[in-house]
Amino acid sequence: STSGPLKVMISGAPASGKGTQCELIVKKFGLVHISTGDLLRAEVSAETEIGNKAKEFMNAGRLVPDEIVTAMVTARLSLEDAKEKGWLLDGYPRSSAQAESLEKLNVRPDIYVVLDVPDEILIDRCVGRRLDPETRKIYHVKNFPPETEEIKARLITRPDDTEEKVKARLDIYKKNAEAILSTYSNIMVKIDGNRSKEVVFKEIDSLLSQVQRDEVKLVKSV
Ligand code: AP5
Repeated sequence: STSGPLKVMISGAPASGKGTQCELIVKKFGLVHISTGDLLRAEVSAETEIGNKAKEFMNAGRLVPDEIVTAMVTARLSLEDAKEKGWLLDGYPRSSAQAESLEKLNVRPDIYVVLDVPDEILIDRCVGRRLDPETRKIYHVKNFPPETEEIKARLITRPDDTEEKVKARLDIYKKNAEAILSTYSNIMVKIDGNRSKEVVFKEIDSLLSQVQRDEVKLVKSV
């Protein structure tokens, strides 16, 4: 199914830089960004039924039950904008059950990008991460400090970004990674995420551009 708008999955351990890269990908390719972490955090702050259920799992660094997340993702994927502009799925699937749900619905990406970053760096990135609740921009106290004092004053820390919880999240990621990979091994590209965000993006950019060009060729040759 490599025709129509671009369909991308991005995966990687906690704090491997998915959200940071997605911001850049969306700016360049105009895809609809579907981040299950962002969707869930929005439900939690709005204190919805889903949010109230998800909160305890998220704060403990554990996965939210599959049925909650899958319903959320499939609803979002079925909206018109995702079909028209293409999509960038970030943080889903995260278990083999979730990958199977998508396969059953015939939802397959053109490419599966994995950001590869060593464990000790991931922990520092999580502990130093800060979020701007107004713009949703991701910062880091050392790597990407806020531009102004005003932004700095309103930054928040995620409750699951303590060293202990990051280790739990990393463990869960490692336990699930292989099972999910087997579903996408033929379209998987691993990228060294332990470089500057611009360098990492350059590689992703050229990869996605290539997939896009190949699709154009495919459509023309039909
Ligand atoms: P989610 O929000 O998806 O968390 P995650 O996978 O742990 O990923 P992160 O958001 O922590 O990191 P990231 O890779 O986006 O890195 P970022 O760009 O921010 O999920 C949260 C929770 O929701 C889960 O634990 C679970 O409970 C639940 N959930 C979500 N999806 C689910 C699902 N499918 N099923 C069940 N439950 C689900 O970067 C991190 C930091 O590093 C930032 O400070 C950034 O500024 C910095 N940084 C980024 N790139 C670089 C670079 N190149 N160099 C230096 N610093 C960098």
